[in-house]
Amino acid sequence: MNGASSSLAPIAKRLAGKVALITGGASGIGKSTAKLFAEHGAKVIIVDIQDELGLSVSQDKSINGTISYVHCDVTWITMGDANILSVEQKDYKRVFDVNVLGPFLGAKHAAKVMIPAKRGTILFTASASTESHGLASHIYTASKHAVVGLTKNLCVDLGQYGIRVNCISPHAVATPLFLKASGIDDKKQAEDLISSAANLKGPVLEAGDVAEAALFLASEAESKYVSGLNLVVDGGYSTTNIAFSESIQKFFT
Ligand SMILES: NC(=O)c1ccc[n+]([C@@H]2O[C@H](COP(=O)([O-])OP(=O)(O)OC[C@H]3O[C@@H](n4cnc5c(N)ncnc54)[C@H](O)[C@@H]3O)[C@@H](O)[C@H]2O)c1
Repeated sequence: MNGASSSLAPIAKRLAGKVALITGGASGIGKSTAKLFAEHGAKVIIVDIQDELGLSVSQDKSINGTISYVHCDVTWITMGDANILSVEQKDYKRVFDVNVLGPFLGAKHAAKVMIPAKRGTILFTASASTESHGLASHIYTASKHAVVGLTKNLCVDLGQYGIRVNCISPHAVATPLFLKASGIDDKKQAEDLISSAANLKGPVLEAGDVAEAALFLASEAESKYVSGLNLVVDGGYSTTNIAFSESIQKFFT
């Protein structure tokens, strides 16, 4: 695969000979990651419930690599209600089924294959809501904390077999999920809004940037001894709190 037609020299292909199974790969962060991993020589299988989108990614001729699509439902990704008083038990179950049970079962079945092979990498998507609080709903935030806990516990369990386990925690990215959750239709408007509240001014966080972080954690050459990490991709947002400086600015203007 990825023969002479690839834009990347063989030496630059950081996932040559690897197989990557990416859930939610038909859109947003998953789609960008699938494309980048395929470009880097991995045989990519995307799993999603949006068949038309999934098939279009797998048939995209502009991608130098192999992407296959498989329909699989891990239940609908949702943020849940923001207000504790209006949260219902069914919302909790729905969000935890997708965000925690899905990764848990995925890791279990991946481990079945990886343990005998004594190699492999498991990579979850958590969220910057594991580091900055009050940004997302209680259920979503709690579920993403559970993903970080799962990452660290699995890292200990599977370390003995040479298997690395990490997660990535992106800040807001204007994907279809974000647009739906925020109620903003226009991607550019959403990016402007996100940027206006960002710590790091100038660059705008895109799905491709999260994919690059995933590529680093998937690449044995670059992160072979990195395990148990929650890689926060938030431009330093979680290291600060701008509320005080904003209040001072408002006070003097
Ligand atoms: N976009 C953000 O601001 C942001 C920030 C932090 C974390 N995240 C996390 O990143 C991950 C990807 O989000 P995104 O923003 O790319 O969203 P997205 O909506 O663009 O993509 C999610 C994909 O998952 C698929 N999916 C939904 N339910 C599914 C199911 N039951 N089975 C299989 N596939 C299913 C969707 O069809 C879609 O293709 C999520 O775990 C999300 O919580 C996103």
